[in-house]
Amino acid sequence: MTKNKWLEIDEKARNVLLKNDRGGYTVPTPNLYPYQWNWDSAFAGWGFSTFDIERAWQELDTLFAGQWYNGMVPHILFRRNDPDYFPGPEVWGAKGHGPISSSGISQPAVAATFVREIWEKDKSTGNVRLRKIFPKLLEWHRWFMKWRLSEKNTVFISHPWEAGRDNSPDWDDAMEAINPFDVGVYTRRDTSHVDSSMRPTKEDYDRYLWLVKRGRELEWDEQLMSKNRPFEVADPTMTFILLRACRDLLFMAEALNFDSAEISEWCTKLSDGIETLRNPNGGFFNAINCLTGAHSGNITSASFLNWYAGMHDEKTLEILAKTLEEINYPIPSLSIDSEKFDGMRYWRGPTWAILNSLVGLGLAEMGYLAEAEILRNSTQSLIAEHGFAEYFHPINGTPGGGDSFTWTAAVWLAWASPSNGEH
Ligand code: GLC
Repeated sequence: MTKNKWLEIDEKARNVLLKNDRGGYTVPTPNLYPYQWNWDSAFAGWGFSTFDIERAWQELDTLFAGQWYNGMVPHILFRRNDPDYFPGPEVWGAKGHGPISSSGISQPAVAATFVREIWEKDKSTGNVRLRKIFPKLLEWHRWFMKWRLSEKNTVFISHPWEAGRDNSPDWDDAMEAINPFDVGVYTRRDTSHVDSSMRPTKEDYDRYLWLVKRGRELEWDEQLMSKNRPFEVADPTMTFILLRACRDLLFMAEALNFDSAEISEWCTKLSDGIETLRNPNGGFFNAINCLTGAHSGNITSASFLNWYAGMHDEKTLEILAKTLEEINYPIPSLSIDSEKFDGMRYWRGPTWAILNSLVGLGLAEMGYLAEAEILRNSTQSLIAEHGFAEYFHPINGTPGGGDSFTWTAAVWLAWASPSNGEH
């Protein structure tokens, strides 16, 4: 790729962020996702930090403006009414828990890591901004440790959307056990924006909505919801990401001379928990249905987040080497060897630039520079050749889902572009 070409893509990526700006916060993509999403905004902040630090802080500030009084940061903030999205605020019925209308569940805790990235780019004003947002990050992590920590010190999800990997096969058996008999009649909106072959199925949707209905009926009271949970899956995405986020929080606490003992304890607990996610047969990290103890048996892109969480692992390195060699556009969200692999269906096969960037960051930090470079180069080609799609087919690169996607543009700017590091 010539320098002119990548500078042109940099410019386009900045425009995606600017166009998806709705006044201090971004939407993931127009139409399909018209509100503010949790981890999408954290990625957006990372992207903005490559050209507008103030705007980057603002993205994180607007996200944390929606923090619930119990510390939870919702996965969607319904800042403006948009009847074109389903399920909207009335279906969630989560009013009164926080200052902004929202959903009732959270999403992977990448925010502290991107706050650190932004702060490290500009510590002069950054220290003031960091002092303000730090207590909010701390409260959110405390909420995770109180309400989403399994007995084995892994982080579980209470709804598939909480992991940000909506229809991953990691939840299949837990989802099958749900009988969504009284979910009622509803009209999906996602399939009017994107072909239904790329989206979760009706069976999935019935269960997603049934779980939302349960939360609504229990008024999103974590104490009540924790009794007889119908869905509880320990998840590598949530666990690795929270561990990494706690490490970054710890680093920032020490830099600001804040008390860090509690955060250190969290890091120890989560590090201890990780090993229990290891599949006893394949040796890779996978999800576990907490209600039955069953391992999912799936190698997903989340299986490779150990380096991002600061952990070496020989077995995973071996599987990664094979994946990088065999697949044109790694990392598939589900191994291509799985019988459930479906290259265009969301989290059941496609490759996602965001996951690649997290795995790539971790690899580079832990000294696996060659592997990190392969992953970065393949993600770079995907975006350069196919645009800022939501995700891509891992074998032929076909773009899928929504387009002009905020986090794909952000990942381009902050990680995949050849300009990264040259600014
Ligand atoms: C989908 C993704 C989720 C993301 C959201 C907005 O639900 O699975 O991870 O946050 O879209 O982009």
